Amino acid sequence: MEIIDNIHEMQSRSEALKMAGHSVALVPTMGFFHEGHLELMRVGKIHADDLVVSIFVNPMQFGPSEDYAEYPRDMDSDLEKAERVGTGIVFCPTAEQMYPDGFQTKIGAEKLSGRLCGISRPGHFDGVLTVVAKLFHITKPHLAIFGQKDYQQLTIISRMVKDLNMDIRIVGVPVVREPDGIAMSSRNSYLSPDERKSALCMKQSLDLAGEMYARGERRVPEMRAALERIILDQPFTEIDYVSFCHPTTLEEVEVIDGETVLALAVMVGKTRLIDNCIIAKGQ
Ligand code: PAF
Repeated sequence: MEIIDNIHEMQSRSEALKMAGHSVALVPTMGFFHEGHLELMRVGKIHADDLVVSIFVNPMQFGPSEDYAEYPRDMDSDLEKAERVGTGIVFCPTAEQMYPDGFQTKIGAEKLSGRLCGISRPGHFDGVLTVVAKLFHITKPHLAIFGQKDYQQLTIISRMVKDLNMDIRIVGVPVVREPDGIAMSSRNSYLSPDERKSALCMKQSLDLAGEMYARGERRVPEMRAALERIILDQPFTEIDYVSFCHPTTLEEVEVIDGETVLALAVMVGKTRLIDNCIIAKGQ
């Protein structure tokens, strides 16, 4: 496995791969790998000749009071895991290279960035879109793989690719869960054992929504109230949002009459967790 930390070297390497007729998949990450990341890499390998994994904790997508400095990092273990799943190249630039003095360009998505997580994390999605666009220009992939756990991120990136005519196929990979149902996330490492027990309410509430839908419930206020009860019954929890929204515009719906995304963001202690599922799909 090659490890490249220089932007120009990465650009030339990707150019050479493309000139040699290889297809390239990119898995952009912020490191601290768990099974969810490894699954994205496996999917990347299925779809392309060469897999590039980027590891970069992007300061631009963290708010001033967020966890950029504490965000978990473990480069040695990440490299070992990436190699084990057959990654060809790991690209790990420094923040100074990615954002040199004088940097001032941003990409934003007018409406999508302001919904769901964008309400409590202003500027977050500008940071995500900007770094992802930069990573696309640096690694020049044919396709890029993202987890559906970050549903809003996947939606906004797909919109950017469409709006800016980027010739890159975006592939979404279903949420990978721990055996007890909790969605895999690097931030799970912040949870104490008791907080972790409380966090199970997120998957339980997604399941309850599925059951209510299967029983014929279509009214969002009724479903939301039931889900909020499950979440708030647990200690340490505070709801950021329980949203039933359209899968591409992310506009809130009041009645489920087509494919609908149920997205949750909950503070468990000091840790902000998100999860989601699609309801009304083949149910
Ligand atoms: O999902 C993440 O880990 C990040 O938001 C991403 C896409 C790597 C951009 O920094």
